[in-house]
Amino acid sequence: KKTGFIFDLDGVIVDTAKYHYLAWRKLANALGFEFTQEQNEQFKGVSRKRCLEILLDIGGIHASQEQFNNWLIEKNEDYLSLIEKMDESEILPDVQKVLTLLKKHNMPIALGSASKNARPILEKVKLMDYFDVIVDGTHVTKAKPDPEVFLIAAEQLGVRPEDCVVFEDAVAGIEAANNAGMLSIGIGEAKVLSKAKFVFANFTEIDVKFINRLMK
Ligand code: BG6
Ligand code: MG
Repeated sequence: KKTGFIFDLDGVIVDTAKYHYLAWRKLANALGFEFTQEQNEQFKGVSRKRCLEILLDIGGIHASQEQFNNWLIEKNEDYLSLIEKMDESEILPDVQKVLTLLKKHNMPIALGSASKNARPILEKVKLMDYFDVIVDGTHVTKAKPDPEVFLIAAEQLGVRPEDCVVFEDAVAGIEAANNAGMLSIGIGEAKVLSKAKFVFANFTEIDVKFINRLMK
């Protein structure tokens, strides 16, 4: 019986939140309103569609279904052009160190992301080979804080949910991990991720001893 390690992508493995923010801000500005970094916090871990709903709420804009869908496409095209040149240099500090350690011990590793762009991003930063299982926004019907994404990951890893550990940077993601009955580890600010079992500012703060204790 082994521990399953599940990683969120955006904000845990790579800092794509800044690109999502720029793309959403561009759309907001085009529609005539401001969108701040602070407001962007609530977009973390949240599906593209839900993000647009929140954005239009902020701007007080009502859209037809067709307009809504066009803006979704427009935002994603802008986002894709922003991440086009992404490479290994954008992997967050010590992520590879932790993945390599887990691989060395033959631990099952999964990605559990809300993003529909997860695979191309992992390919760009050349981390595909570390993951036994990838569950992303193309597979999931219920968004975080629903535990679906992590439960599917556990099932595909062949590990019981209670034997899984989740690394997450989003409030909704920590809640999803907790709802799945998994051990939640927040990557970010303790005051934001107060529902996480443990919180670290980033992977450089996590030592080998801590990871060893998680491994079964
Ligand atoms: C999550 C991000 O990982 O993916 C969210 O934290 C984003 O900000 C969501 O909205 C969906 O991503 P994408 O790439 O499918 O638009
Ligand atoms: Mg995230």
